[in-house]
Amino acid sequence: MTILSTLYVCVTCRGGGEASAGEPRSGARLLAAVERESAQVGTNLSVVGVECLSNCSRSCSAAVTAPGKWTYVIGNLDPEQHASDILAFAHQHSAHDLGLPVWRERPEHIRKNTIARVPPMPLKESP
Ligand code: FES
Repeated sequence: MTILSTLYVCVTCRGGGEASAGEPRSGARLLAAVERESAQVGTNLSVVGVECLSNCSRSCSAAVTAPGKWTYVIGNLDPEQHASDILAFAHQHSAHDLGLPVWRERPEHIRKNTIARVPPMPLKESP
């Protein structure tokens, strides 16, 4: 059974790309770019804006997760350049039962800017 992944995009990030005066923050622009891209290619992923993934010094930031799968935090995303990369990675994550896309098949920017990966939570039964 395929468990669809969720792509969280931090909308409060300020880094990653130049913002002109009056423009939304870089993170908000990254979310808008991801939403535009996903509307064009068609996706069944959930794309959700969140506030701060605690990766501010290496922003823009996003995270990919799903129940029972590995979670990834990705940094140094530029809203003008990397929307398709993070979306492609989220699709690869969604397609893998454990959320472990083949490393060499991941977009280069994702390979080089994975800040952390966290294993799936173990299932614990109550005694
Ligand atoms: S504001 Fe985006 S990671 Fe902190």
